[in-house]
Amino acid sequence: MKNKILVTGGAGYIGSHTCIALHEAGYDIVVYDNLSNSSHEAMNRISNLIGKPIEFIEGDIRDSESLKKVFADHQFFGVIHFAGLKAVGESVAKPLMYYNNNVSGTITLLEVMTEYNVKRLVFSSSATVYGDPETLPIDESSKRSCTNPYGQSKLVVEHILEDLAVSDSDWNLITLRYFNPVGAHSSGQIGEDPNDIPNNLMPYISQVAVGKLSQLNIFGNDYATIDGTGVRDFIHVTDLAQGHVAALNYLEQQNSALGFLPINLGTGTGTSVLELVTAFSEVSGQKIPYQFADRRAGDIASCYASADKAQSLLGWQAKLSITEMCQDTWRWQSMNPHGYDTV
Ligand code: NAD
Ligand code: WQD
Repeated sequence: MKNKILVTGGAGYIGSHTCIALHEAGYDIVVYDNLSNSSHEAMNRISNLIGKPIEFIEGDIRDSESLKKVFADHQFFGVIHFAGLKAVGESVAKPLMYYNNNVSGTITLLEVMTEYNVKRLVFSSSATVYGDPETLPIDESSKRSCTNPYGQSKLVVEHILEDLAVSDSDWNLITLRYFNPVGAHSSGQIGEDPNDIPNNLMPYISQVAVGKLSQLNIFGNDYATIDGTGVRDFIHVTDLAQGHVAALNYLEQQNSALGFLPINLGTGTGTSVLELVTAFSEVSGQKIPYQFADRRAGDIASCYASADKAQSLLGWQAKLSITEMCQDTWRWQSMNPHGYDTV
């Protein structure tokens, strides 16, 4: 058995897939999640898939006493920190909730890690920290700026991690900037399970395909892109999960501390909204009715990664295609039309 890893937010969408990848890579994991945006059922399904129970602690990252108990009970090699709130629109309506959860929660976690001398962290950041990029593809040295509280909360945490690395050279702080995670586990047992009407494109498309929603609104068809619709770097969640395993492997190889290390996790390829709709329709055999609507406030035309740093440092690159992203999303959605509430 390899090192023991604390996974905050491990019951969520990306966390659940990463738990499986970590288990397959031989890591011993403990999941810490307050289930504010996930369910026990996700944990049950992960355990079924890997064939053994996973140690799960229901707790909040802002609760330092609860965290201290977890660190006292386990000898962790490091922490993968997914826990956070992620809905851009909600963050505009409830900024304090987002800063409290994402920023204060991370500070509490870092304080407890310091107390227990666990100084390896893999943090879930986002391509949103690049704002409207000046050049494409976006590399890690690109200017950072955000326009909404969710993005700001990620950017503030990045600054905190940078300052922490300067203050104490023992820290290893890998910051993974995810582009647009989509897809589901190939078993169809776990996947993205949004509350209410999805904000993001892929779950919206799949809910239209399964008949839960009547039609897709495509926000803008007058961008300077291949077909006028927005272009994004969609990345399969299974590839993303492997990126976390690669980051841990990299941490294990280090003889001296890394400080703050930002790394993009994307495919390096842009796909337009219309191209994704067409691919999903072909894969699922379902019609996806859509209409063009006004641009969504805050959206940008195009966003895709330079994934060179992940390749050169971590030896990681995305393998799964847009077709596979659609196939796996469709399998999850059609097997679980009501997500984890599906009986
Ligand atoms: P998710 O909501 O499915 O998972 C987050 C998990 O964290 C949930 O299980 C939730 O219950 C838990 N959580 C939230 N606040 C908590 C708290 N205070 N204490 C303990 N647990 C808490 O989201 P996801 O899509 O899996 O995203 C994981 C991380 O990746 C988040 O930090 C998110 O901001 C970041 N990210 C996501 C995307 C994306 O599009 N999904 C893109 C870039 C970055
Ligand atoms: C993609 C494209 C929309 C829904 C967001 C966050 C980002 C990150 C990933 C967390 C855009 C279009 C969407 C719809 C549409 N999350 N669209 N109709 O905005 O690139 O990124 O999720 O870190 O921070 O901002 O992803 O899936 O919402 O949109 O036409 O119903 O699909 O306009 O062009 P986005 P998205």
